[in-house]
Amino acid sequence: NSVPSHILIIFGASGDLAQRKLIPAVYDLYRGGYLPEHFALLGASRTDYTDEQFRDKVVFDSEFFTAEQKEQAQLKEFSKLLFYQDLKVYDGKEDIDKLKARLDVLSQEFRTGSNYIFYLSTPPKLYSTIPGALAASGLNAPEGGWARLVVEKPFGYDEASAKKLNEDIQSFFPENDIYRIDHYLGKETVQNLLVTRFANGFFEPLWNRNYIQSVQITAAETVGVGSRGGYYDGSGAMRDMIQNHLLQVLAHVAMEPPIRADAVSIRGEKMKLFQSLRPIKGETVAKQVVRAQYTAGDTKDGRVVSYRDAEGVPDDSTTETYVAMKFFIDNWRWAGVPFFIRTGKCLPLKVTEVVITFKNPPQAIFAEFDDYAMKCDNQLIIRIQPDEGMAMEFGMKVPGEGFRVKNVDMDFFYRDLTTQDVPESYSRLLLDCMKGDPTLYARGDSVEVAWAFTDPIIEAWEKGEAPLTTYEAGTWGPAEADALWSDVPNGGWRNPAESLVDDK
Ligand code: BG6
Repeated sequence: NSVPSHILIIFGASGDLAQRKLIPAVYDLYRGGYLPEHFALLGASRTDYTDEQFRDKVVFDSEFFTAEQKEQAQLKEFSKLLFYQDLKVYDGKEDIDKLKARLDVLSQEFRTGSNYIFYLSTPPKLYSTIPGALAASGLNAPEGGWARLVVEKPFGYDEASAKKLNEDIQSFFPENDIYRIDHYLGKETVQNLLVTRFANGFFEPLWNRNYIQSVQITAAETVGVGSRGGYYDGSGAMRDMIQNHLLQVLAHVAMEPPIRADAVSIRGEKMKLFQSLRPIKGETVAKQVVRAQYTAGDTKDGRVVSYRDAEGVPDDSTTETYVAMKFFIDNWRWAGVPFFIRTGKCLPLKVTEVVITFKNPPQAIFAEFDDYAMKCDNQLIIRIQPDEGMAMEFGMKVPGEGFRVKNVDMDFFYRDLTTQDVPESYSRLLLDCMKGDPTLYARGDSVEVAWAFTDPIIEAWEKGEAPLTTYEAGTWGPAEADALWSDVPNGGWRNPAESLVDDK
């Protein structure tokens, strides 16, 4: 396999992400035979653990491995690759010396060479501190080896803080060795957007303002903020979902064809796309963006209390748990085509999908036969999750007299393509980082440009220039979101509960 020997160091290893996602993802790679022969994982955080205690926490006592897995020899073997180093203060010289000494021992023992992936899964305030400390001890450029840095979200809080963070970490690691995680880019279906568009001849001629009426992206979640109120209240849906995940999905839908499927070409095209987003600021914010907060209600997962009553959320919070927005891309391909994004917590379904609505044929010649009222339902629905797949909707003749038209769909489900589980985002992304391929990671400058798009909207909200509305938990959000479509022919949010339901 093409993955070089290395040690993966996870800072913040006693935290939730490491246990929930990272360790299981590394195990997936281990099981799949993707890890190099010479490999070890070193967890580092403040808690005092021995290696054994750490293995218990993240593997044997962890709810993220099944009882059956825990009995298997394979998992036991894997756990022997896991080690732990406590660090009292992440940037203390003594601590970093300890870390370095430990890495020296492990790299000898496991014959990994001095190749290190440093994964920051800590609170964001340590995102510059740790790379700085690594650099001070030379671990950013180990002799005879290499070092890469993986940074979790959130990458900054706004454009200015993202810029500062970029400057800081780029002074310690070259941009090519910095991997900014956006786990949506690890989703197979998000990657498949590129294959759909650029491996098929027939989409490209249609994929522009001449044939596309509108584009909509929905990312709905049934869960509320749960116990994450403390984090979420300082963030909100715009920062938590749109600035990163959904703008990345948008980039895959709307960017120009890259000249090659590599990091330079793909990330270059994404950057251009972000630069062509028409700014929404001042008065346009209230016209094009709806923000709302959920009130108590019944969801699929049961009764939830209102957002303001959630743990860690102030009673007078104005943080949005829902955003719906309309915007434009000012470039040749998309001139005049309205784009829509909506996302929210406590909605009726957990679903992420992209819907491309094509324009009507120029003449409605069958209208006179049709009690269905011929409405343009030429839609391509790309289901990012769950039931990953896509469906194309179009009109067909209803058998019998006249020319009545009915919408039908042709669908494809990912599970028909492979009997294997669709790989988890984190496994795919970690593997790419191990191989040294940053294609599916966000580039520093484009993260800043994405913030530059969302900042003025958040600013207008903070100044109270656009209202905050509410929606009952368990519903599809406030009615105001429908009004965004008022001037779009054949417009409206698609109900994701319709079609693309797996009928097998
Ligand atoms: C995270 C957000 O980045 O993405 C969460 O912080 C959100 O609030 C999650 O729930 C959604 O991810 P997914 O993969 O479940 O759609």
